[in-house]
This record gives sequence, C-alpha cells and structure tokens, in this order.
Amino acid sequence: MIKRQITAAMELLLSMSFCLLTFTGKSLGDEIELFATEDSDIILPCSPIGKEDLTQQLFDWKKNDKEVFLYDKGKHYNEGKMGQNEYFKNRVEFFQDQLQFGNASIRISKTKQDDSGIYSCEFPNLQPEQKFYIKLVVDCILKDRTNDTERKCGSCPKPSLSILKEVNGGMLVQCEAHGAYPEPKMELHDSADVSIVPVNITNPSNGKYIILQAFVTKRDEYHCVMKQEGICHQIYSTRTLVPVASGYDKGLIHGLLYGVIGVAVVVGVLLYFLWWHRRSSGKPYDKTNTSSVDEALKST
Ligand SMILES: *[C@@H]1O[C@H](CO)[C@@H](O)[C@H](O)[C@H]1NC(C)=O
Ligand SMILES: *[C@@H]1O[C@H](CO)[C@@H](O)[C@H](O)[C@H]1NC(C)=O
Ligand SMILES: *[C@@H]1O[C@H](CO)[C@@H](O)[C@H](O)[C@H]1NC(C)=O
Repeated sequence: MIKRQITAAMELLLSMSFCLLTFTGKSLGDEIELFATEDSDIILPCSPIGKEDLTQQLFDWKKNDKEVFLYDKGKHYNEGKMGQNEYFKNRVEFFQDQLQFGNASIRISKTKQDDSGIYSCEFPNLQPEQKFYIKLVVDCILKDRTNDTERKCGSCPKPSLSILKEVNGGMLVQCEAHGAYPEPKMELHDSADVSIVPVNITNPSNGKYIILQAFVTKRDEYHCVMKQEGICHQIYSTRTLVPVASGYDKGLIHGLLYGVIGVAVVVGVLLYFLWWHRRSSGKPYDKTNTSSVDEALKST
C-alpha cells in the first residue's frame, strides 16, 4: 500500500519534471535573440507558420505586459487605435505591403537601452493560436548623458583643462574632475580627437578625484575626455588653446635673433673702426695743417 503510494508520487514528480523540461526546452527553442546598438533602428521579425495573408487578421506585439504594437483588420496603433504603451508611441512601424505575405514584423526606431527584454508576437485568432518570442539586447554607446531623462547620471562632473607651466620645449597641462562615480577614465585629446600619450593619471582620495597630467609639445586646441563606461557616459571639457611655439617657429625666432645680433655687432665694429681710424689718422693731419696755415698767416 505504502510502496504503491510512493511509486505514484514518484511518477507524478517524474512527469512534472518532464513537463517542466519540455516547456523550458520549447520556449528556449522558439526564442530568437537580436542585438542592436543604442539610437539605431531594429526590425523584430515575426511570421506565423503557414504565412497566410494577415490583412484581415489580428496580431499583437507585447513586451511583458506592455502593449508595443497591435494590428486588427486594418486598424492599428499608428492610426489612432488606443492602448499602446506611452513608451512605444511614435517609435514602432509595421509593414503594410508585407502583410499579404504573412509578415507581421515591426521596426522600432531609435532604440534605447531600456528596449532590451523579451518581446512576444501573438496571433490569437489563428487556429490554433500562435505565439513567438524574441529577445532584444540593446548595447549602449558612449555619449554625454548629463541631460539624459531615461538614465540619469548619478555623479558626472564635467572635467576641466588647465595649463600648468612651460617646460623646455612644451607645456605641462592638467585635466581634473571631482567626485565622478562610477569610476571614470580620463584622456587628453588634440584638435583631431587623437589621444595624447603618455599621460600620468592619479586618483587621490580613493578615486573621488581624478587628475591627468601630460606634456604637450605642439601648439593646438586640446580637450579632456572623461569616460564612465559603467553608465556609458562620456563628457568633454571645453577646448583650450595651448600655445606651444613649434620647432619651426623657434628656429625662425632664434635665427632672426642671432641675425639681428650678428648684424649689430658687425655694424658696431665697423663704426668703431671708422671712428678710431678718423681720430688716429685725421686729427694729427688736421693739426699740422692748421698750424702750418696759422704759421703762414702769422708770417705774412
Ligand atoms: C518582413 O518585412 C521586413 C520589412 O520589409 C523585411 O525586412 C523582412 O525581411 C520581411 N520578413 C520576411 C520573412 O519576409
Ligand atoms: C544639458 O543642459 C544644459 C542646460 O540646459 C546645456 O547647457 C547643455 O548643453 C546640455 N548638454 C547636452 C549634452 O545636451
Ligand atoms: C609622469 O610621472 C613620472 C614619475 O613621477 C615623471 O617622471 C614623468 O615626467 C611624468 N610625466 C608627465 C607627462 O607628467
């Protein structure tokens, strides 16, 4: 009697786990996984088995319990039909000319990270009804999220760039930011947006303060770039002109300077020589000349 009950219970357990296995197996098998990049458009594909004409049919796209898109015999959300989730308003299109081929795909424009998740595409009036699942993963891109309403920056200060001092042949510049969280990375870029290397980065007070120092040898407009990859955030400092005299400029300036000094020295030497020559040779002659004239005058 007891043995029989145990066997029954075991059978029940076995059949339950079998059910569970087949269920998860099926839902996984039916699911398509798609990847999109933030701000791009993505088509979520869906066609019922048999691909019958859908123009006089009903299909419903949902994300969990949110209404993404519904088409019902020519009426749909983009034509004033009520019920669409606010979040998807004006962002979802279907393909009218594709319906006759059994194509119920939709396009979501300007995808956001929050679009990630599992979508279902359902044909409740087909016999038997059909339902498909699509998993969408939206990867974020690095951009300025200071004013992002969807994903607010917790602590995203704007970095500042300053010129510290002139060091022979260049300038020591510094980028700094206070209290950036999650942990920031810092770079210094030139006007062509090329990262300057090498740089020295220090993180005093446990990373709450980040300082970058670099030595630049080219006159150019520079800016600091701070990246907080944990929140896909990137922000630039204002652009600053770092006035480094270029090698060519320096050569020219030095050349001019030496040239001017050289010419001045040569002219000075010449003038001195002329003056000296005049004094040593001219004066005695003048003297004897005048004295002889004087004597001549006296004698007359
Ligand atoms: C459904 O239509 C879209 C948009 O034209 C297209 O990209 C997609 O390939 C079509 N799917 C099928 C199965 O034909
Ligand atoms: C964020 O808003 C401020 C103030 O309205 C504005 O000055 C700034 O340019 C905005 N930043 C971005 C990246 O849109
Ligand atoms: C970076 O730090 C090292 C050691 O403190 C120093 O020798 C080097 O000059 C620094 N470089 C810059 C670009 O500041």
